[in-house]
Amino acid sequence: MSTSLLIDVQDVTYTYPVQPRKVGREQESPPVPALRDISVRIQQGEYVVILGHNGSGKSTLARQCNALLLPDEGRVLVAGMDTRDPSCQRTIRERVGMIFQNPDNQLIATVVEDDVAWGLTVRGYAASEIRTRVDSALEAVGIAHLRQLPPHQLSGGQRQRLAIAGILALQPSCIIADEATSMLDPFSRQEMARLFATLHRELGLTIVQVTHLLEEAVYAERIVVMEQGRVLDDGTPAQIFGDLERLRALKLIIPDPLRLVARLRRAGFDLAPGAVSNEEIAREIAHA
Ligand SMILES: Nc1ncnc2c1ncn2[C@@H]1O[C@H](COP(=O)(O)OP(=O)(O)OP(=O)(O)O)[C@@H](O)[C@H]1O
Ligand SMILES: [Mg+2]
Repeated sequence: MSTSLLIDVQDVTYTYPVQPRKVGREQESPPVPALRDISVRIQQGEYVVILGHNGSGKSTLARQCNALLLPDEGRVLVAGMDTRDPSCQRTIRERVGMIFQNPDNQLIATVVEDDVAWGLTVRGYAASEIRTRVDSALEAVGIAHLRQLPPHQLSGGQRQRLAIAGILALQPSCIIADEATSMLDPFSRQEMARLFATLHRELGLTIVQVTHLLEEAVYAERIVVMEQGRVLDDGTPAQIFGDLERLRALKLIIPDPLRLVARLRRAGFDLAPGAVSNEEIAREIAHA
C-alpha cells in the first residue's frame, strides 16, 4: 500500500456560528467548540472508521475533510491542498467525495444511469467518457442491472449504492460515508460495510466511514474514536475492541460478538485479540 498522506488535519478548532437570537432574550452561554485542537492524518489507501457517540464531532470532522466546513484555527490539507484556498476547493471535493445518511437528498435525476452521469455532465465531460465511467461505477457498486429504473423504485440500500456510484464516477481518491448506513436495515447495513471493504480492496480507495456502531468498524484497518471534539483513541479494531469498558463508558453499544469474546476470555479461552466477528470467534475456538 502507498503511504502518501491524503488528509492532514492539523490542530483544528471549529465552533459553529451562533444563530441570531430574538431581541430581549438573555444571552446564552458561549457556544462550545465542535472540534478542539484536533489532529488526524489519513494516508492514501487507508480504511478508517471514525467512531463516537452523538455530538462527539464526527460529522464536523468529516465536513472539514472536503472543505464543506473550514477551520477557525489550524488547517486541513487534502493531497497537500489547503481547504481554505478557494482555488483548491473544487478539486478537493472531487478528490474526497461524501455520502450522507439519507440517499434521497443526494439523488437528482429520474433514471439511475442519468443520476450517475449528472456530476460528469455538469463538468462537461465527453459523452463517450461519461458512458465508460457510468458503466464502471454502476458495476463497482453492483447495480448495473438497475440502470434504467427510476431511483424511487430502488431499495434504501440500492439508493445508497447509487449515491456512491455518482461519487465513484468522478474518480475520487477517498469516500467519506457519514452515517450512510443508519437508515438501512441490519442486513443492508452489513452489505454496505462489505461494499466499502471491496471498494477499498479492489479500487484502492481511501475509505472514511463515520458511525456510532461498533459492528460497522469490524472491516476497518483503523478506528479513530472521538469524544467532545477530540480524538480519544486511534488504533486497530483489535486494539480498540480490547477495552470494552472504555467503549461502554463512551456510551457506545457493544455488539454481541464482542461481548461473547469478553465472556469466553473470562471463561479461560485464549482468544487472539483479532477475534471481532462470529466467524473469527468460531475459528479461534476451533484452534484453541
Ligand atoms: N449546524 C450546526 N449548528 C450548530 N451546532 C452544531 C451544528 N451541527 C453540529 N453542531 C454541534 O456540534 C457538535 C458536534 O456535532 P457533530 O454533528 O459533528 O457530531 P456527530 O458526532 O456527527 O453526532 P451525530 O452522531 O449525532 O451525527 C455538537 O455539539 C452539535 O450540537
Ligand atoms: Mg453526525
